[in-house]
Amino acid sequence: TLLHEELAGDEIIVVSNREPYMHARTGKGIEVQRPASGLVTAVEPVMRACSGTWVAHGSGSADRDTVDRNDRVPVPPTNPSYTLRRVWLTKEEEQGYYYGFANEGLWPLCHIAHVRPVFRSSDWEQYVEVNQRFADAVIKEARTDDPVVLVQDYHFALLPRMVREVLPKATIITFWHIPWPNPESFGICPWREELLEGLLGSTILGFHTPFHCKNFLETVDRYLETRIEHEASTISYGGKLTQVESYPISIAWPESSPERPSVADCRAQIRQELGLSADHLLGIGVDRLDYTKGIVERFQAVERMLEMYPALVGRFTMVQIAAPTRSSLDEYQNFEARVRSLVQRINNRFGNGSYQPVILKAEHHSSEQVDRYYRAADVCLVTSLHDGMNLVAKEFIASRDDERGVLILSQFTGAARELHEALIINPYHIEQGAESLYRALTMPEIEQRERMRSMRSLVRDFNIYRWAGRMLLDAARLRQRERISSKIR
Ligand code: F6P
Repeated sequence: TLLHEELAGDEIIVVSNREPYMHARTGKGIEVQRPASGLVTAVEPVMRACSGTWVAHGSGSADRDTVDRNDRVPVPPTNPSYTLRRVWLTKEEEQGYYYGFANEGLWPLCHIAHVRPVFRSSDWEQYVEVNQRFADAVIKEARTDDPVVLVQDYHFALLPRMVREVLPKATIITFWHIPWPNPESFGICPWREELLEGLLGSTILGFHTPFHCKNFLETVDRYLETRIEHEASTISYGGKLTQVESYPISIAWPESSPERPSVADCRAQIRQELGLSADHLLGIGVDRLDYTKGIVERFQAVERMLEMYPALVGRFTMVQIAAPTRSSLDEYQNFEARVRSLVQRINNRFGNGSYQPVILKAEHHSSEQVDRYYRAADVCLVTSLHDGMNLVAKEFIASRDDERGVLILSQFTGAARELHEALIINPYHIEQGAESLYRALTMPEIEQRERMRSMRSLVRDFNIYRWAGRMLLDAARLRQRERISSKIR
């Protein structure tokens, strides 16, 4: 309702690379899959609440079998409330735009994780081309000349300007889900001016933290001739004003459901499935198998803790759920090999026939399965080397209605700016990670409860509807201002 009020009947179009539902052909027929994506976790409940159209890359093996002749399919499949409009990409387009420029170029460029970005002209050409194709799809889907367009992430830095050229009255809200680096780091990109100009087609440009906004303003200041009002956080470029704001993203607070197994049942069942005793201590990590997530450093901290506190050998296990991601890229294959060999080394060193201190589950898990692990764990480890927000931290908190469990959180996540009651660590500092893990595993119940209670109330209040509501409210104000000033003109 709040979102509806803020939209006041305006047309809403979301555009992202990743689609919220993928149709896949399996042995059992066509199945619907939910991708492992923070973006989808966050934006999907908002779309359910406000309907409209979501334009995204059709990437499931049976996606083409489920759309109508305009490439549209109503979703969610069980209870449709909005339209998914799929855009098809050729192998070459996907390779150049998604794997190449977005994930070998922009991803390491924006995450300072010491992986060198790769910039190929051929990838850039595909990136430009695909941005134009998605912009055309948005324009085609628009029924009015002033829709609210929500552009998601680094796959579409050029699209805001492309849409603005055809729909000058559109309200374009672009949200950058990953960090924005300092001007020196960003400046190595051969197409830095084009990317900045593209983004400045937005009415509002959102980041997770004020720090990322500041980096963006400084980057623009360094590389473009613009007028920047630092106080108001606006950039004026080519006669157009862009508001730069921080909107920390969040999750939908889970509704209580009678089908959800209790914490006690999750604890008992998961330990039984893993062949562990009822009082065995359990750590959980949930990530895409990505080099930004600090998985190697996390396991090194586990190893160091077992070394420092041998009483925990045989009593503690770290379960890592690692969803496969971007696996055709060398960097990701090398990373997976590194992770696997580290797990093997730690297990050889501290494990035996029946005990493995680290269990790696490198496969996709449904949100229900992940929720069971969150509820079964004593501690959740989020050790990203750099992360826009990190929603695993918030999901873990939301799952713990028993007010137990400890969150270890990297200081280099956006989430660390909000979740002060987590045990905040520098993931590069292995000793500190090991000490924090030990502290978490020995933390008195009352302290766990106090910390968890405070974080739960924050995540409950600052949920995903607030995130979207704040952006849409700001957009509504700007639209109103625009309407008034165009009447005066
Ligand atoms: O939030 C960052 C992000 O790259 C999203 O854009 C994306 O949906 C998610 O992580 C997962 O990555 P991918 O879509 O490449 O699988």
